Amino acid sequence: MRILSGIQPTGTPHLGNYLGAIRNWVANQNDESLYCVVDLHSLTGEIDPATLNANTRQLFAALLACGIDQERCTLFIQSQVSWHSQLSWLLECVASYGELKRMTQFKEKAERQGAYRVGLLTYPVLMAADILLYQTTHVPVGDDQRQHLELAREIAERFNHRYGATFVVPQGMVPEFGARVMDLQEPTRKMSKSISSPQGSIDLFDTEADIAKKIKRAVTDTDNEVRYDWENKPGLSNLLDIFGAITSRTPTEIADGYQRYGDLKNDLAEALIATLAPIRNRYEELLQDPAELSRLAKVGAAKADPIAARTYQQAAAAMGLLS
Ligand code: AMP
Ligand code: TRP
Repeated sequence: MRILSGIQPTGTPHLGNYLGAIRNWVANQNDESLYCVVDLHSLTGEIDPATLNANTRQLFAALLACGIDQERCTLFIQSQVSWHSQLSWLLECVASYGELKRMTQFKEKAERQGAYRVGLLTYPVLMAADILLYQTTHVPVGDDQRQHLELAREIAERFNHRYGATFVVPQGMVPEFGARVMDLQEPTRKMSKSISSPQGSIDLFDTEADIAKKIKRAVTDTDNEVRYDWENKPGLSNLLDIFGAITSRTPTEIADGYQRYGDLKNDLAEALIATLAPIRNRYEELLQDPAELSRLAKVGAAKADPIAARTYQQAAAAMGLLS
């Protein structure tokens, strides 16, 4: 089982990233798994160079703080392995404009950004390159990436059909609970680095006081019956999902143990703090040593590079490029 996944350094990682993705990366890490900070993907939106630079370093440290271990798996920065952008070009000549234009995330972001960059349209092709370069079999992601993953499969199949068997066709690994953490203030919208208000999102580096306050103020309904019911009680159901994901219980099981919203919120805040506070402490320690972070990133890139090079060369040769 070869695993690859990526996360963008656009803003601070939040609880949705942790429960939907990072936590599963940690659980599945071994010498066949690769994880990357996809800095090239962040260039598709407006981001100033100093911010991108700082975010990339911070996210790399955050992943280590969450438990990713460079000795057990491969953790790298996408732009430090040059084959990603190279394979992306080859795959841009396999994907079609029509299928990219239909991507939900593209449509939403294009509408919000107005004059968008071409990279926003071709973004899923770069993601397909990330995945296919490593002959990945499994891709742990949150629910919002299902469509992009389907496209990566489609591109792999089309390439294999047109040029001969080259890529493994990957499959997604979406967690049962926590795959779609919603905004605490607007529970019908997903928690997001770019859209959520500070009160709507729990960042991995929030202080204990912030976490407690945000959970306490999370929007719920007024009928005060603790029940797991997404249709009528999205705010409460989101809290139950989060609670379930961090304590490995089902949301319904948790709901059965409470009569009042207040008690549930207090216990959830406590459980979240117990999970996140050690991550935050470790993150702060790691940030003290930028030279060690750079060294670790280079170690990861050196492990990823030969695997990616091999696949790229196979794909290029299959398409008729001279080696
Ligand atoms: P991104 O921050 O968009 O690079 O996403 C990194 C990973 O976190 C991807 O696997 C996403 O599917 C996952 N993710 C992002 N937002 C959420 C959310 N609100 N709930 C669950 N998973 C999420
Ligand atoms: N597009 C993904 C997101 O926004 C991030 C990503 C880029 C990714 N490359 C990937 C995820 C490869 C999984 C595998 O969340």
